[in-house]
Amino acid sequence: MPFLKTNEARYLACNCNVFVLLHSFFGKMDTLKQQIDFNRLPSHIAVIMDGNGRWAKTHGKPRVFGHKNGVDAVREVTEVCAEIGVKYLTLYAFSTENWSRPVSEVGALMALLVEAVRNELKTLNKNNIRLQAIGDLSKLPSASRKALLEGIEATKNNTRMTLVLALNYSSRWEIVQASRLIAEDVKKGELDPAAIDEPLFSSYLSTKDIPDPELLIRTSGEQRISNYLLWQIAYAELYFTEVFWPDFKKTNLLEAVIDYKKGNAGLVKPANNWNLPQNFKYFLRLITTACHRSPSLPIRSANRNTSMSKFLNLFLLGWITLCSQFLSAQTEGVEILPYGERKEYEIGGINIEGAVNRDRNAIKSIAALREGDKITLPGVEIPRAIRALMKLKLFENVMIFQDSIVNGKTVFITIKIVDKPTLSRYFFSGIKKGQQDELNDIIKNIISKEGIVTDDQKELAKLKD
Ligand code: FPP
Repeated sequence: MPFLKTNEARYLACNCNVFVLLHSFFGKMDTLKQQIDFNRLPSHIAVIMDGNGRWAKTHGKPRVFGHKNGVDAVREVTEVCAEIGVKYLTLYAFSTENWSRPVSEVGALMALLVEAVRNELKTLNKNNIRLQAIGDLSKLPSASRKALLEGIEATKNNTRMTLVLALNYSSRWEIVQASRLIAEDVKKGELDPAAIDEPLFSSYLSTKDIPDPELLIRTSGEQRISNYLLWQIAYAELYFTEVFWPDFKKTNLLEAVIDYKKGNAGLVKPANNWNLPQNFKYFLRLITTACHRSPSLPIRSANRNTSMSKFLNLFLLGWITLCSQFLSAQTEGVEILPYGERKEYEIGGINIEGAVNRDRNAIKSIAALREGDKITLPGVEIPRAIRALMKLKLFENVMIFQDSIVNGKTVFITIKIVDKPTLSRYFFSGIKKGQQDELNDIIKNIISKEGIVTDDQKELAKLKD
C-alpha cells in the first residue's frame, strides 16, 4: 500500500472484526471494490478458464452443460474487468490441444462461440469493449471464424477495454510462427539478424499490440500453464483457485485482483474456505498478511447467500481472530504501525518495479535508499527519494510503497517506476546518406536535451553512425 494510505488501511486492519460484520450484511461487491489498490491494478489479466467438465459432472450433466454455463462466467468477468479499469482481458477459449476432444464437444464449443459473440455484440458495444482474437483462426470452422471476424470488425473502435479470445491458440505454435516470419524477413533482406532482440521478437507475436499480462488466473485447482502465453507471462503473477470456471463470478475476479502483489502468488485459493486443514498453508499466509497488512479478509462461501453462510462467516471470523492473535505471537510477523507514530526503521529490502531500461542499483543510489540504512517513517526520506528520481526527467511517475514491517524495526519497500517512453531504435529509408547524417544529428540533439535515452541506446546510436 502506498505510504500516504497506510494509516487508513491500518485503521481498517485493526477493525477487521467490524469489517467482516459489515461484509456479511452489505454488498460484497462494493466491499471488495473498496479493497482494490488502484495503484497496483493489473492492466492486463489473462485467464485459463478450466473446470467446465468437472463442474458439469458435479451437477450430473454432460460436459457441454459446463461450457454453456462457462459463457455466463465470461460475461461476468468481462464486465467486472471493464468496471474496475482493467485494459486487457485475454481468455483461453480453445487451445490447439482441444481439437483432440470428442467431435461433438468441439462442435458444441464452436457453436457456443458463434452464439456468444453474436449475442454479446450489443453489450460489448454499449460498454465500449473491443473484441480481438489470437491464435490460428484460419483453422476454425467458417461459421465461427465469420462470427468472430464480424465481432472484431463491429467493435474495432471501442476503447474502454480489449477482450482477447485465444482460439486455436498455443504458445509454442505462436513462437514457432514468429520465428518463421522473422526468418522470412531476414531471407528477404528486410531484417538484419543483429537487430533481433526481445522487443523485435515480441513484435512478431500475435500479441504484438497488447502489453504483457501482469496477472494470470487459472481456475479449477490445476497449477499448469498449458502452453498459454509462455513468452508474455515471463513476469506475470500466478493466481490459482479451486473454483470451477462456471462458478467464477465477479467477486472471484475481484478477489484475485486484491490478492495481486500481496505475496500469495502460487498458492491455490480454496473453492470452499471451510476446508481449513487442506488449505492451511494458504490460510496461514492470508491471516498473517491480511489481518496485519491490509483490510482484506478471505471470507468466502460456496453458498454465500444463505443465512447459514452468514452464521458460518461470523463463526469463522471468531476463529480467524483467535488464530491471527495466536499466529502473530508465534511468528516474527508483519506488523501494523500505530497511527501517526514516527519511528526509525532499518531498510530490510528494496524491491524495484517497472524500471525496464534502468540500472536498479543506480535507482537506489539516486533515491539515497539502501538496504541496511536507517529511515524514519513517516519522514523526509521517502518524499526526498521521489523528488530525486523525478528530477531526472526519465520517469512518468515514481511511487514508493511500504511492503511490510518486520519485528517493529525492519521495513521492506517497493519503488515503482513508470518509465517514460524511450527511443530504442530508428531507421531511415529512401533518403540519401547526407540527409541521414543530418537527421541523426537532429535526433541526437533531441535525445541529449530530453535525456530520455539510456547509455546503452546511445552506444547503439554511435555504432549506427
Ligand atoms: C476448460 O474446461 C474450458 C474450455 C476448454 C473451454 C472454455 C469455453 C467456454 C467457457 C465457453 C465459450 C467461451 C467463449 C469465450 C464464448 P474443461 O472442459 O477442460 O473442464 P475439465 O478440466 O473439468 O474437463
